[in-house]
Amino acid sequence: MQLCFATNNAHKLEEIKALLGDSFTLKTLKEIGCEEELPETTDTIEGNSRQKAEYVWEHFGIDCFADDSGLEITALNGAPGVHSAYYSGSRDFQQNIARVLTELKSHTDRSARFKTVITLVLNGEVHQFEGIAEGHLLEAQRGVQGFGYDPIFVPEGHERTFAEMSIDEKGKLSHRARAFAKLVAFLQTYSGINS
Ligand code: IMP
Repeated sequence: MQLCFATNNAHKLEEIKALLGDSFTLKTLKEIGCEEELPETTDTIEGNSRQKAEYVWEHFGIDCFADDSGLEITALNGAPGVHSAYYSGSRDFQQNIARVLTELKSHTDRSARFKTVITLVLNGEVHQFEGIAEGHLLEAQRGVQGFGYDPIFVPEGHERTFAEMSIDEKGKLSHRARAFAKLVAFLQTYSGINS
């Protein structure tokens, strides 16, 4: 079965290919001839994830899934959320972290969660899968692995930040891994039923 993963991130693609096994041929956006930027203009993570997957389905007629993620901070009413990538006005991780730490200065509640929503459009039907990683934010950065807000995020039940963990360790706890596990379980059941 052929399925497009609406990403140009080679690392994400390899990860999900390894999880899915042989029953699925995963295609990148480039491989299906989609060279344009996918729209991400809604004001929610769920909405952007769905918008990207539906764009591929509507313009290329191929079953597809797309992911979208962000950091939701309790004291900031869920910000940066869907704006996580450009919170400081640029994509620069250091500047984004700096803005979050400045805004959190006057707050004692440091709780936050990473959220991923994957939208799958299969035969024109929409399915969504959510993965959450609960945790809290430090006042200063620790660690050098990972990306984005990893150096200030400590997942629940742990002492180290995501940036102090190996890729494998973060991979077992992360919001993205949890959402992908739900997608993979769904697709495996689906391919079992349809084979
Ligand atoms: P995307 O939807 O996966 O591109 O994520 C959007 C933004 O959320 C990223 O640019 C990061 O700022 C933030 N983000 C998402 N996932 C993570 C993560 O695992 N660690 C740190 N930051 C993340």
